[in-house]
Amino acid sequence: MELDGLLKWIFETAMASSIRENDWLFPMIESFHVLAVTVFLGSIIWVDLRILGLANQDRGLRRFAKELLPITWFMFAIAVITGVALFTSNAVNYAHNVYFQLKILLLLSAGINMMIFQLWFSSRAEAYDPSHAARINAVQQIKMSKIRMKLHQISFFWSGKWSALLSILIWIGVIALGRWIGFSIQPTFAG
Ligand code: HEM
Repeated sequence: MELDGLLKWIFETAMASSIRENDWLFPMIESFHVLAVTVFLGSIIWVDLRILGLANQDRGLRRFAKELLPITWFMFAIAVITGVALFTSNAVNYAHNVYFQLKILLLLSAGINMMIFQLWFSSRAEAYDPSHAARINAVQQIKMSKIRMKLHQISFFWSGKWSALLSILIWIGVIALGRWIGFSIQPTFAG
């Protein structure tokens, strides 16, 4: 089945028809979408601000991020489920809408940025986080020369900050595009 055929099939499912035809369902689902997005992004941006040195400097980065992670993943799941439900109600038009396409592209970029951050930082955070109590121990475990350690700290410090800044910018883009879809989308698929 080609993509448009699949999208049309999604559009015609019972769930999509109910969301489209019921006066309450779309706004209700969209409200949960926005609520989930707010909490999910709130927690991510909190960590980004911590990395940028603008919030919670007295707390170790690793522990701080770990505490927020369960709520982040839970709310992300709600945002994706509600987002997909909204999508089904007008699947063909959403899929052809350039703002929707850009939003999904930015979502993927945010995921890649987070993955790189996780792989690169999680094993090193304790060693390089200046406010972390375990730093001295971790530094001893790594057994690097002082100059090498300093260079690693500087590169860790700056790449972390760029990644956090990029994350904030990408998420602002996702929100703007999410809103813009509503301004630009054709209400229903006529085909
Ligand atoms: C997880 C990150 C996400 C964020 C930050 C996000 C953000 C937003 C925002 C801000 C809106 C506009 C709400 C309003 O009307 O004011 C929106 C609407 C929407 N989102 Fe998402 N979203 C996310 C995930 C998804 C996913 C994964 C999908 C589908 C695959 C999706 C599909 C939609 C649809 C269909 C709308 C309705 C657009 C309309 O008004 O017609 N979203 N989103």
